[in-house]
Amino acid sequence: MSTTTDIAFQKCVFPACGATYGVDEVRVRCDSCGGLLDISYDWDRLQVPPNLAWFEQKWTRRHEPLPFSGVWRFHELLPFAPPESVVTIGEGQTLLKSSPQVGRYVGQRKGELYLQYEGMNPSGSFKDNGMSAAFTHARSIGATKAACASTGNTSASLALYCSVTQSMKAIIFVGSGKIAYGKLSQALDYGALTVQIAGDFDDAMQRVREVSSRLGIYLVNSVNPFRLEGQKTIIYRILEGLQWQVPDWIAVPGGNLGNSSAFGKALMELHEIGLIPRMPRLAVINAQGADTLYQLHEVQGVRWNQAEPPLDDIEAFFHEMDAQQRRASTIASAIEINRPVNLTKCLRALEACDGVVRQVSDQEILDAKAQVGAGGLGCEPASAASVAGVKKLIAEGVIGRDERVVCILTGHQLKDPTATVAYHTTDQELFNDVLASRGVRRATYANRAVAVPNDLDEIIKAIQLYR
Ligand code: F0G
Repeated sequence: MSTTTDIAFQKCVFPACGATYGVDEVRVRCDSCGGLLDISYDWDRLQVPPNLAWFEQKWTRRHEPLPFSGVWRFHELLPFAPPESVVTIGEGQTLLKSSPQVGRYVGQRKGELYLQYEGMNPSGSFKDNGMSAAFTHARSIGATKAACASTGNTSASLALYCSVTQSMKAIIFVGSGKIAYGKLSQALDYGALTVQIAGDFDDAMQRVREVSSRLGIYLVNSVNPFRLEGQKTIIYRILEGLQWQVPDWIAVPGGNLGNSSAFGKALMELHEIGLIPRMPRLAVINAQGADTLYQLHEVQGVRWNQAEPPLDDIEAFFHEMDAQQRRASTIASAIEINRPVNLTKCLRALEACDGVVRQVSDQEILDAKAQVGAGGLGCEPASAASVAGVKKLIAEGVIGRDERVVCILTGHQLKDPTATVAYHTTDQELFNDVLASRGVRRATYANRAVAVPNDLDEIIKAIQLYR
């Protein structure tokens, strides 16, 4: 247990329990009640910056590793470790880009659609934000091995941090055949021990928890509260990109619900310490074939309920899921998850941000992805769920056509080339194999390759036909 003199400590998410633990402890749940843990800070005793623009002074010190990092230049807002113990490989050099083209696609009037492109991280996804924080903690407590279950991006990130820092061995658990080649190739190249489990992500997650607890291996999945501290910085960079103005909406794909939970925490803290005047609204977007959050929040009306969520109803939902042997299934393999480990924290974020949840089909995801690509930034299928979800919410009138919306593009386009090529292909067999089998009927925005004979006149004719 922690002492009350600590400035940073781990704390159970349920205030009625309120158990606290030191930051030098390794745990993924509360000993007293089994709840998730937060990293909490005694803000009154910390030097809180006077305003968010204060962070701009760090821009002049980009030659130093901490101000250079898009995570650690906000160190004052995640002060669980001293600067000298921070592990950084230059994560968080991301881009907030206004996209009028994608704005038109989702039905916006005023060009207030922004894409927060996390594909620019060193391993190509937002996971590096959290990995840098988890690694900082892991190294400070002397861990030598780290493990995760993954749909691909967490494992790529873990493997990269291990290979760059040479300070730990990576052990990754993936569902057999459930991981896109771009991501698998990263883990293999970076030298991680890759364990392919005959099962899906939910199976791999359960096993990695058992194995890491049995063998004392450091777990870096987003049940690890330090991971989420790093992911809070995505919110800070969005605000930075908007010159510290709060947007009306932030839309994010929902899988294991680490990002949405981290966003809620970041915003609640900024509001509490007086650095933002109001909260934006949050839209969490599930894939239709992996829609636990949607079912619970929108269909069954399950709420955080001021820290008293109906845990029995949630348990009953999973019980029924098991009884019916329901498995997650979507082309957006990154979010092919039916048992999100951060569910309760995400419910808290939805309550704090007056949030909504929607589910989108694989067809909607792939069409949105093609529009994102044509609009200037490539992303993987799961990322495009945020754009597809915003389109749906604008059509419903929940998001106003003039509101300022930020969609998080969580991963790089090259993570999953199979989905992209199958969408644009002229090869019907490939289309059927990869997409039609998942209920995708048409490639609405396909950009088909043109086949021409190896003949100069024919090639010129084909180019002249192109408008
Ligand atoms: N987008 C991408 C590209 C992801 O890789 C993930 C999660 C998500 C969205 C969902 O984020 O879990 O915070 O709700 N990928 C994990 C992995 C599960 O293993 O790489 P979340």
